[in-house]
Amino acid sequence: MQNDSDHFADRGVYIDKVGDPLSGHLFSLEGEKWRKLRAKLTPTFTSGKVKMMFDTVVKCSDDLILEMDKSVESSINIKDILARYTTDIIGNCAFGIECNSLKNPDNEFTRYLMKFFMRGFWKNIQGFFSFIAPNMARFCGVKEVEPDISRFFLKVVQDTVEFREKNNVYRKDFMHLLLQLKNRGKLVDDEKVLDDDNIKREVTLTTNELAAQAFVFFLGAFGTSSTTMAYCLFELASNPEIQERVRQEVNTVFTRYEGEFNYNGIMEMHYMERVINETLRKYPPHPGLNRICTKDYLVPGTDIVIEKGTKVMVPILGVQRDPEYYPDPEKFDPDRFTEVNKNKRHPFTFLPFGEGPRICIGVRFGMMQTKVGLSALLQSYKFSVSSKTKLPLKLDRRSFIMTTEGGIWLDYIKV
Ligand code: HEM
Repeated sequence: MQNDSDHFADRGVYIDKVGDPLSGHLFSLEGEKWRKLRAKLTPTFTSGKVKMMFDTVVKCSDDLILEMDKSVESSINIKDILARYTTDIIGNCAFGIECNSLKNPDNEFTRYLMKFFMRGFWKNIQGFFSFIAPNMARFCGVKEVEPDISRFFLKVVQDTVEFREKNNVYRKDFMHLLLQLKNRGKLVDDEKVLDDDNIKREVTLTTNELAAQAFVFFLGAFGTSSTTMAYCLFELASNPEIQERVRQEVNTVFTRYEGEFNYNGIMEMHYMERVINETLRKYPPHPGLNRICTKDYLVPGTDIVIEKGTKVMVPILGVQRDPEYYPDPEKFDPDRFTEVNKNKRHPFTFLPFGEGPRICIGVRFGMMQTKVGLSALLQSYKFSVSSKTKLPLKLDRRSFIMTTEGGIWLDYIKV
């Protein structure tokens, strides 16, 4: 994944940039095309750029609390509402639109999104086919994104691009950064999407390529962070002392910053970070990583050769629940992530964001929206596990992202 990553440079997943433009994104691109795009997109995820979007995330967390207030003192399927929170954030930050799925879950944007994720039996079979034999799937006309969904998201992006280019609109979001890459070939610390000559260009990205990146930011950010928050709240509800300790940290940091939600304050919540890491250990949203062997590889210390073209899976869930690395692995223990304890382990025993050159590009943004959401919730409510949750949690084997059968139901009261 790291030292020999040139043997496993790609994922070998479905891509059809022409027939299925939204599939031409960073996650699926290969070789030189991936390398160049990754280099261009990396600066859009620096701490400075993530900080720029902080206020938007806080605004969505305010909406989350308003919505949660409506069902206080009853049970809630926590993943559902958190998915609406992350939809609003990333709709704002990636597509530059206010989809308001918290206030109005039945809006057009969320409907198309749900249609993409709610895969029936045949869609799952097609997805599996695309995963194991992407070239054959493309040849057979299988699409990753169904044509009506693709048309909808492409139109949303085209309209936004046209409007912003025509009116030189500035918003603090990924769309602005992608537009600068498209028209100016690089990120510039100003509010303009076009160069001084005001001419629209396609320097680094075409409009369709830009749309594919906005789409993958959406796919990357939406399920992963809401899943992390849902499992985190489940563990906090099951471990009230840990819940109280995180709440105290949140309150202390808030007092330090005079009750303001602040990026630096969020970064100072170190205990919360340990709690999130322990959640990501026990429940990695992507339970496995995939690569395709791009150059024959002799497994060190053996005579086994992994041949070019072989697909490889790295079982994150298996590694992260292996008692050899994490004794008593079912126990939720954030202290596994103190600096001292972390240094005792091989670093690659913790892989929720992957590793090597293809590591998740959105780690900072993902952690930021997770911390903001959890801070807002823990400041407002005390959580306990509802009798509606089926214990022990059983993983849904049909889902690509880690999901629990029957959902995670929590009871909550105002603090
Ligand atoms: C808790 C939150 C998140 C988790 C657990 C997560 C996890 C992952 C994992 C496991 C990978 C594959 C890494 C590998 O193969 O080594 C990945 C890739 C990726 N993630 Fe995330 N992710 C999160 C948030 C985000 C966010 C917020 C974004 C964008 C806004 C994002 C965008 C991407 C992209 C574009 C890739 C493909 C990178 C490449 O191939 O160059 N992710 N993520």
